[in-house]
Order: sequence, then C-alpha cells, then structure tokens
Amino acid sequence: MDSNENQQQVNQPERNQNPNFKSHLLISILILLLAIAISFSVTKTEYYKLQLLRLEFSSNSNLFQTLLGFLTPTQKPKRTQIPKPISKPPYCVLWMAPFLSGGGYSSESWSYILALHENIKNPPFRLAIEHHGDLESLDFWEGLPVSTKNLAIELHQTECTMSKTLVICHSEPGAWYPPLFETLPCPPGAYQNFKAVIGRTMFETDRVNPDHVKRCNEMDYVWVPTEFHVSTFIESGVDPSKVVKIVQPIDVKFFDPLQYKPLNLDSIGSRVLGSQTRNSNSKFVFLSVFKWEYRKGWDVLLKSYLEEFSGVDDVSLYLLTNPYHSDGDFGNKIVEFVENSDLERPVTGWAPIHVIDSHIAQTDLPRLYKAADAFVLPTRGEGWGRPIVEAMAMSLPVITTNWSGPTEYLTEENSYPLPVDRMNKVTEGPFRGHLWAEPSVAKLRVLMRHVMDNVEEAKARGKKAREDMIRRFSPDIVANILADHIQTMLEKSSV
Ligand SMILES: *[C@@H]1O[C@H](CO)[C@@H](O)[C@H](O)[C@H]1NC(C)=O
Repeated sequence: MDSNENQQQVNQPERNQNPNFKSHLLISILILLLAIAISFSVTKTEYYKLQLLRLEFSSNSNLFQTLLGFLTPTQKPKRTQIPKPISKPPYCVLWMAPFLSGGGYSSESWSYILALHENIKNPPFRLAIEHHGDLESLDFWEGLPVSTKNLAIELHQTECTMSKTLVICHSEPGAWYPPLFETLPCPPGAYQNFKAVIGRTMFETDRVNPDHVKRCNEMDYVWVPTEFHVSTFIESGVDPSKVVKIVQPIDVKFFDPLQYKPLNLDSIGSRVLGSQTRNSNSKFVFLSVFKWEYRKGWDVLLKSYLEEFSGVDDVSLYLLTNPYHSDGDFGNKIVEFVENSDLERPVTGWAPIHVIDSHIAQTDLPRLYKAADAFVLPTRGEGWGRPIVEAMAMSLPVITTNWSGPTEYLTEENSYPLPVDRMNKVTEGPFRGHLWAEPSVAKLRVLMRHVMDNVEEAKARGKKAREDMIRRFSPDIVANILADHIQTMLEKSSV
C-alpha cells in the first residue's frame, strides 16, 4: 500500500497486440529512462551506475548497448555464457516484480525466484524475470550476492513466446495493466494474449479497495500469502475461484543462526536516547526492523519500551529502519515524539534507543539478528512480515501483533503473539476508512519484560520458531507448492 506514494500518474499506454512484446518493452524502458534522466537530480556517478544497472537488466538491446558504449566507452558489460539445453520447454513463466527496489515485494519475489531456481530440476517451463512495479535502488542491487546478480542477468535474457507464457504480476494491483503510475505495465499488453496472467499481491488492512478488487478480477488467478488474505480478498469481492494461497519461502540456510557471528552493535547505529552504555555486551538487546511509517507501530514500541524500562535496566533497543519513500533523520523524529508525548523521563534516565539508518547489506542482515536477544514489532497490519519470519528463522523469540498476515505462522509455542486492543480506522492515505489493529501498549510492556526475565523460555520459543519456519516455509517446500500450481495451470489452459 505504500509503494506508489511518490510516483506520478502517467497516461495509459496504448494496448499492445504485437507478439514481439519484449522490444516494445524496451522502447518503453528507453522512454522511461530518458524521462528519469531529465527529471532526477542524482549525482553523475550514481546516474551512470543506474544506467549500467538498467543496461544489465535490458539485454538484447542494441539501443542500450550503444547508449552505454557512448556514456562509458571503455566498459563493456560482461555476459555470462549460458549453455544451451538440448530441448527447451516451450512454456515460460515471466515473473514481473520490483526485483531491484529492495522493498517488501522485492525480497519476496527474489525468494520465489531463488526457491524455484534451486529446487526444481527440469521444470516444464523456462523462467524469465522483468523489473516492474517500483523504482530501482542502486544500494539494494549492489548489496545482492554476486550469484543472485548473475542469475538476474541470466533470467532476464530468457526469450518467451507470448501465447506460451504465464505472466505473474507480483506487485500492488495499482501497478497492473493499465498502471496507475510510471512502471512497465503487467501484463505487458492485453491480458488475453498470454496463456494465463496471475496477480500476486497482499494487503495490510481488513479489506481491498473496490478498484483493486476489479483489477484482481481481471486476472486469471490471484495468489495471496495467507488465510487472512484469502478471506479478506473474498469478503471484499474478489472471485473466490481465483484466489489461491501460496505461502512465502524463507531462506532458512541463509538465515541460520549457526552460520554467523553477531554484528558488533557498537560499530553501527547511533544512540538517540538514554545514556552512554558502558558495557553493551551484557545488555539484553531488543531489535526491531521496519520501514518508517505509522503502520509499523513504532509509536507503540517507543511508548511501551520507554514506559517499561529506564536507565537502571540492562536493556537496549535497536531500530533498523529505512527512509523508503520517506525522509530520514529518525533520531530527531524519535526525540520529537518523546517530547510531544506524555512520557516522563525516569529519574535514572531513559532506557537507551539506537537507530541504524545506514544501509545494511542483505549479506550482513543475519549478523544483525544474531546480535539481538529478541525481536519486537507491534505492527498495525502486515502482508506477510518478512523481518518477523527472518527473525524466527534466526531462532529469535519474537513479539509481534497477532493480526493480519502473521497469524499464518504465529503460535503460543513459537513466539509471543501480541494481543490487539481494538480495531482502528486508517485515518490517512489512500486506504482511509479501512480497519487495522491497534496493538496493546500495556500488553507489549508485559511481554517485553517477560521475555527479558525468562530467557530460557524465550530461547525455547525461538528454537521452535526456526523449526516451524523450516517445516513450513523452506524454499524446497514452497518451490514445490509453486511448481505444482504452475503445472496445473499449464495443463488446464493447454486444452
Ligand atoms: C491470536 O489470534 C488468533 C485468531 O486469529 C486466536 O485464535 C489466538 O488465540 C490469538 N492468540 C493470542 C495469544 O492472542
């Protein structure tokens, strides 16, 4: 719901009936690129790097090669040589998602691609990917493992025939054809030209907007991640025969606590509240990971933490947050929030709060979880809650709101589900009037204190959390669920 806030309305692109849709796509990328070149004030090197990124992502384009050659004559991008299989399956699965944005849909889409790539040997389809649905982030691309980058370039080169292609539009419905903001349309052209078109989406409130319902019903299928979404989508008017639950994979090998040493927390982040910690190693560390927006309940977290703890407690709170579509300077925002609240400074001083707002490369993320003793996120609503399952895979005890997407996997045995006080109306943004959860400040205080005072119990829940993640959401398990659905669709529509 937040990925299109800063994007512009554009005119509806013309319907495209040409089977050679990739070249049309490239022309539209070029137009987009020129528009961006004119309208964005990024530094020159950043700009060229972004060009290079786009180039890598738009292979088979002489136009792009020429453009890059013109800008940086000495740098020719290297192409990985892919051995040609003897017989290729005629079918394609074209996955269109914000692969390069680094947001929630981005990491989700990568998790499916990697799961399929690594676990399905000899699939009855070829996999192709295309960036769609959000802006590219250079930081995110650069933080990706080299193997993932190479795979991205390889899969982007897959040639597909329209009529034999299943398109998966993995984004918010506003990005689907015709898109409401500047992005490659998905599907690229009319719905009927493809073998099937699937919308993969989710939502963080109790309902789906009528316009999004309409867009969902244009699709052949709508994949959602949880039972919560199956019911909210159907209740909102999405055709029940189209709604399919496909859970999200979590890379339990990458997020494996045994593989990592903890990140040194003293070396990252900045203290915005509380006194200098003399011995940060002995402290109980709460970690929260979220994009800075009201929905994530950071106000509830700060209130609970600062009311419950003070300078005498051996505790600290680390917030990994990012200015994804909002401005930074979270330190000031936190101080401002505390000053404007009815919180009273304890005589022993505030319990310390640290903010990490520098970019943490994906490859360092497990080490950050490893440095924490518990994960906490009193969110008002989640589609899936990626940081939550990452923390669970890392065997952390998790305290998070028992509502929306996370109800798919939270239990009393594997976590500390945070009860909801009441449902509240969303008061701003395009989803005003929807309902979401108001997590309980009082109960969050109790749970945070409890986890800190019952370390053994908390560790046992963390252990169970990892077991549940492995059992239900391992990439091999989800890849097979996914491949089965794709297989069924290919069989159904090939009559
Ligand atoms: C969490 O919510 C579910 C319903 O979605 C409920 O059955 C369960 O008892 C709740 N757990 C807690 C601890 O509130």
